[in-house]
This record gives sequence, C-alpha cells and structure tokens, in this order.
Amino acid sequence: MVAVLTTAMYYAIEFARNGFDFLSLSKGGKFEDAHQPKVGQAVYPYTGRSGYECMPTVMSDERGPFGRNVPLVEIIKRSVTEAGFDTPLIATGGIGTFEEAEEILKRGQADIVGMARQALADPDWFVKVKLGRGAEVRRCTYTNYCEALDQAHRPVTCKLWDRVDLEEPGIATVDEGRRRLEPPEWKPD
Ligand SMILES: Cc1cc2nc3c(=O)[nH]c(=O)nc-3n(C[C@H](O)[C@H](O)[C@H](O)COP(=O)(O)O)c2cc1C
Ligand code: SF4
Repeated sequence: MVAVLTTAMYYAIEFARNGFDFLSLSKGGKFEDAHQPKVGQAVYPYTGRSGYECMPTVMSDERGPFGRNVPLVEIIKRSVTEAGFDTPLIATGGIGTFEEAEEILKRGQADIVGMARQALADPDWFVKVKLGRGAEVRRCTYTNYCEALDQAHRPVTCKLWDRVDLEEPGIATVDEGRRRLEPPEWKPD
C-alpha cells in the first residue's frame, strides 16, 4: 500500500506540475491482478484485489464501500499542496449523501467530491440536493448489479430503475425491451 501511495503521490505532483486542471482520484481495477478468464473470455480488471478495492460492495467487509478512498486522497492532496501546487483534488468512492460530501469538503480532505454509482442510481441527485430535496434521492445500494453488466459487456443500467415503467412510450430499451436505458424523468413540482 505504501509503495502504491508513494507512486500515486509522485504522479499526482508531476501531473500538477504539468498543468492538469484537476486530479480525480479513485482506485482503478488493474489487469495485473485480475483472475484468469474462462476460455474464450476476455480478462476483466475488476476480478482481483485492485478491482475489489475499486468498487467494494456493501457486503465486502466491515468498512463497506463508504468513503474508503478519502484518507488516501487527503494524503495525496497534502503532498500536492506541499509541492507548491493548488490543483484541485477530487475524491470518489462510496460517497452517496450530501452530508458525506460536505464533511469531506469541510475537513479539507478534497476540493471536489465525485460519484459514479450514486450518480447512476439517481442522475437527478445533484438537482434534488440543490433544491433541498435530498430525501427524494434514489439511494444506491452498492450491490454492483451495474458492474456485473459492465463485466458481461452489456449496456450498463441500474437495478433501481431499469425495469420501472417499461411501457412508457418512446423510451430507449435493451434486452428486447426488458431494461430501460435511462431512468424515468424526475420533475420537481
Ligand atoms: C459500471 C461501472 C463501470 C466502471 N468502469 C470503470 C473503468 O473502466 N475504469 C475505472 O478505473 N473505474 C471504473 N469504474 C469505477 C468508478 O470510476 C469508481 O472508481 C467506483 O465506482 C467508485 O466510486 P463510486 O463508489 O462513486 O461508484 C466503474 C464503475 C462503474 C459503476
Ligand atoms: S445497480 Fe444501481 S443501486 Fe446497484 S450498485 Fe449500481 S448504481 Fe448502485
């Protein structure tokens, strides 16, 4: 872990030195530690330890997926700042609520907060939160249904909405109409 972090710090500083507008940090799945694929299948970088760390589920361990990368982002942010750069750092990984996001910013652990699964679960998160209607956010359950679709090279959707109102006219679908590609529209009233 220390070696990985040192390498990440090195690259972060060099990217900052070379004028990157921001650095968005999570943990990526790597091919190096991926499981051997079945005969005829392509190697998938989320099957090994790095893939597990990239997108842990709620069932993964006692820490779960929540804010797992934030302390690492904080360390890298400090090293970038100490090297004399003010490049904004983005933290991502298991951040799903406004409160979590705000705490990270208040503590100065990152400059911007990012999200993948929660934004897929509810692309209207941002509008809802801005309007003070966070209670209406469709919360990601972090069980990685979406990631399993990605692994199978199938169009990625979210289990919280891909079978809702399938009879809605004009919607784009996949799997012969069994999954919608976009969530039902949310309109603030
Ligand atoms: C469907 C899906 C596909 C992803 N594909 C990639 C990818 O190709 N490369 C990568 O580094 N991370 C990928 N990620 C990981 C995200 O970039 C992010 O690091 C991870 O989901 C943790 O953030 P979150 O908890 O907000 O989802 C993917 C995530 C999802 C949900
Ligand atoms: S399928 Fe939806 S609820 Fe499940 S992990 Fe993915 S985004 Fe979250």
